[in-house]
Amino acid sequence: MLKTSEYAKPLVEKYRPVTLDDVVGNEMAVEQLKAIVDEGNMPNLIVVGPPGTGKTSSVMCLARQMLEGYVKEAVLELNASDERGIDVVRDKIKQFATQKVNTPEGTQKIIILDEADSMTESAQQALRMIMTEYSSTTRFALACNDSSKIIEPIQSRCAIIRYTKLSDEEILERLNQVIEKEEIKCDESGLQALLFTADGDMRYALNNLQATSAGFSEVTRDNVFKVCDMPHPDIMKTILDCCNRGEFDEAAENVDIIYQEGYNIMDIISTITKLIQTDEDITDEKRLNYLRESTEFKMRILEGLDSHLQLHSYLATLCSTR
Ligand SMILES: Nc1ncnc2c1ncn2[C@@H]1O[C@H](COP(=O)(O)OP(=O)(O)OP(=O)(O)O)[C@@H](O)[C@H]1O
Ligand SMILES: [Mg+2]
Repeated sequence: MLKTSEYAKPLVEKYRPVTLDDVVGNEMAVEQLKAIVDEGNMPNLIVVGPPGTGKTSSVMCLARQMLEGYVKEAVLELNASDERGIDVVRDKIKQFATQKVNTPEGTQKIIILDEADSMTESAQQALRMIMTEYSSTTRFALACNDSSKIIEPIQSRCAIIRYTKLSDEEILERLNQVIEKEEIKCDESGLQALLFTADGDMRYALNNLQATSAGFSEVTRDNVFKVCDMPHPDIMKTILDCCNRGEFDEAAENVDIIYQEGYNIMDIISTITKLIQTDEDITDEKRLNYLRESTEFKMRILEGLDSHLQLHSYLATLCSTR
């Protein structure tokens, strides 16, 4: 269990990578960033990928390693909590770009725009002008989840570096280091549950580890699922087994229990989908069909069809898949 004084500091901050060497996974991408540091010549960058994989951390490490002692004056960081409409781009970013500051020989000031995909299009248009105008003194590093929300002219001015979800092994290694340092009691079932719920997101894994160890003396599978906001996989496995046997009524009865607990339909279908990927009772052919159906239903839900009826329709489809 964590000591009381430790609660205040989130593990994700305490264990945020300090240099690029600390960033776990995505080796090719991280190597590219290290090469940029070694050459001392940074292009404008877009780092894109799923949440909690180390994009923001990597960009910060990059800026720190590029500019060493000059970070305070030579790096401007704007994240999603800052207002980032066109005015901010015109004022804050432009002002910083025009400012004269000292940087190590051959390097430029760096502007970090975190969660750049949430910038309005007009702000991005203004940004594009500044990028071109001040290219000799300023470099941009954008981090985002969805590069299609970045306007084409900015994309074409940047080197794009892609991050993917972290593997269970990569998350496990880091979790074990943290567990040892923090002296947290965590058994194998707890670790597996953390990996299952994290689904490639290191931030989620660390936050869940912290939440569980704050609430319970030991991190076990049951405790993890009590803390995290996800339908318990045991009942989801029962539902999947019913579908596998074609027993719709029983599957629907069980899913209604979960539904009445307040889980939304996307959470339920996502958890079943995760189980489908590894379930040993399903044949590979069926697995493929199940996954295809699951994806179709998820798409429908994202389009707004998230009624209880859709959930039953999903189960009925799985039941009739042969
Ligand atoms: N690859 C990684 N190696 C080590 N720690 C990581 C990694 N990815 C995430 N973390 C941990 O998770 C925290 C959040 O990471 P970070 O903010 O870099 O994620 P992100 O990719 O920018 O996510 P988002 O897309 O949600 O902004 C970090 O402080 C760190 O503790
Ligand atoms: Mg980020």
